[in-house]
Amino acid sequence: MESLLKRKREAIRQMFSAIAPKYDLLNRLLSGFQDVRWRKFAVDWLSPSTRLIVDIGTGTGDFAFAAIKRCREAKVIGIDISEPMLVLAKSKANSKRVSDRYKLICADGLNLPLADGVADAVLSAFVVRNFEDLSEGIREMFRILKPEGVALILEFCQPPVEWWWTPIGLFVRYVVPMVGALLSNPVAYAYLTASIQTFTPSEAIANIMFDVGFKKVASLPLTFSVATLFRAVK
Ligand SMILES: C[S@@+](CC[C@H](N)C(=O)[O-])C[C@H]1O[C@@H](n2cnc3c(N)ncnc32)[C@H](O)[C@@H]1O
Repeated sequence: MESLLKRKREAIRQMFSAIAPKYDLLNRLLSGFQDVRWRKFAVDWLSPSTRLIVDIGTGTGDFAFAAIKRCREAKVIGIDISEPMLVLAKSKANSKRVSDRYKLICADGLNLPLADGVADAVLSAFVVRNFEDLSEGIREMFRILKPEGVALILEFCQPPVEWWWTPIGLFVRYVVPMVGALLSNPVAYAYLTASIQTFTPSEAIANIMFDVGFKKVASLPLTFSVATLFRAVK
């Protein structure tokens, strides 16, 4: 079982490393810039005086940069298993002149190299769907948060069956894998659609957050339920 999970993690790492160079372009194109709005909407829940933020699955850094803009004194630790994603995040941080506030670590979100109770906020956008063990990932977020610390998780959760027949559902089912294959990587963008189809529904994710110990758990559907923001407090 352990080696099966390791193989899944390695496959995920290789897939994200392969799409890293065109990741931002495809995000903007396929979401019509909604991804920028979703991250901005999420970080607006952070107090501007937040000091230490951990962004799990930081990718090319867009969630971290939104948080850095919102919280003027904050330092962000960005964690990711993909080196190519981290290289891009670093170079974007340099060009935005925020590298002194954004530290990057190559590590697994299921085994964070951080002590208990250090973070004021934990962020994670479009990552938890890829975890081999969702409860363990959420438990790690809870562990590193200070009491009253805030967790903000953005994700594409499994929609109800009828959603797939709406214009947006059809777009995600047919256009996303096609455009992804043409401009980036066929496997990765077929995986995107398939992983949304088979991922946990939002109510079940909120229940896991409660079970782990979070309070004030809220799930907010965004853009016709394409994405969901989970907001919770330790
Ligand atoms: C869809 S991207 C999201 C990137 C970024 N959060 C954003 O908002 O654009 C998912 C990222 O999570 C990373 N990732 C996937 N599984 C992970 C894990 N177990 N631990 C840490 N990072 C992980 C991938 O390498 C990838 O960079």
